[in-house]
Amino acid sequence: MDGGKHVLVTGGAGFIGSHTVEALVARGDRVTVLDDLSTGRRDNLAAVESAPGFTFVCADATEPIALATPPTHIVHLAAQVSVTASLADPLTDLKKNLVATLRVIALAKEARARVVFASSAAIYGDGPLPSHESLTPRPASPYGIHKLASEHHLRAAALNDPAGGLEAVALRFFNVYGPRQSPSSPYAGVISIFLARALAGEALTLFGGGVATRDFVYVGDVARAILAALDGPAIAGEAMNVGGGGATSVRTLAETILAITRSTSVLREAPARAGEIVDSRADVTRIAERLGWRAEVPLAAGLEATAAWVAGVAGA
Ligand code: NAD
Ligand code: UD1
Repeated sequence: MDGGKHVLVTGGAGFIGSHTVEALVARGDRVTVLDDLSTGRRDNLAAVESAPGFTFVCADATEPIALATPPTHIVHLAAQVSVTASLADPLTDLKKNLVATLRVIALAKEARARVVFASSAAIYGDGPLPSHESLTPRPASPYGIHKLASEHHLRAAALNDPAGGLEAVALRFFNVYGPRQSPSSPYAGVISIFLARALAGEALTLFGGGVATRDFVYVGDVARAILAALDGPAIAGEAMNVGGGGATSVRTLAETILAITRSTSVLREAPARAGEIVDSRADVTRIAERLGWRAEVPLAAGLEATAAWVAGVAGA
């Protein structure tokens, strides 16, 4: 086992979580997943269920977290992930995205565990691009506000740690996509929705006419960034962008997906959704300097892999 790491992954049965867990198990870490299966699936963990040192705990991260053996590291991914849902129900977002972080911080202090937290590009709002970590964040949604507040709590916990040395890093994920991203809700990620609809021959909706741009990053690259942050030099409460550094409009994305899937689905326009930022693109110099990480999977290759997975699920 890699230096005796015991990694707790909250939200480990979800999209990003399950890829992260597979990477940790593959290199021999002991892994505990804590997940309430609200959007995650036990099936996502099929490849690791019987691995030595793997444990699944079905529990709610907004309640105090107690494990039989304390973790040495925590990857905190459990969350409500939709910007639109956070606007419809800010109190639930507060609970799932901020209270859960406070539970994780309490456990980290007790266990002396390093925390890698899943923050988001949504903390920036519509600021100058590309978004650099030194910009003043201006989140435009409860989701972005609660991710930013979580970052502040982690930094304050590291600064005020009486024992000294609590390590925490916030990774600001941009738009993550890939196999296992669920298209099952209207609030799901745009790539998973577009692929499922294109393959079913259903119309693709372009909110705001599809002019919004996003920095898409493949889930395998994101899992590598999480492992780099777990292993990297000690960092007290720093934030780092995790993106590809490019920008693709939602309309271009839709057209690319129609071409890849050879779909005859139509594109239809709808009003922009409230609270969403228009353009988003990461400055990725900090994570390259600090952790030696950069995205490697180009969008075309990532979309092909994701389309193959969606087609497999639809055909299964
Ligand atoms: P996901 O919905 O697939 O994963 C979230 C997981 O957390 C699910 O397995 C769910 O069952 C679990 N969960 C939710 N609330 C919980 C609770 N209270 N207790 C225990 N488990 C709970 O979503 P994802 O896309 O894999 O997102 C993972 C993390 O990355 C989230 O924190 C999200 O905000 C963040 N993030 C995602 C993206 C993206 O583009 N997907 C971008 C930026 C940040
Ligand atoms: C996504 C993530 C969020 C993350 C953020 C980081 C999801 C559900 N949301 O938010 O967790 O913190 O990236 O940048 O994974 N769109 C359409 N048609 C559709 C669906 C979406 O036009 O059918 C558009 C949206 O209006 C938006 C863009 O696609 O302009 C992206 O939307 P979405 O995938 O929901 O992601 P974000 O809101 O960027």
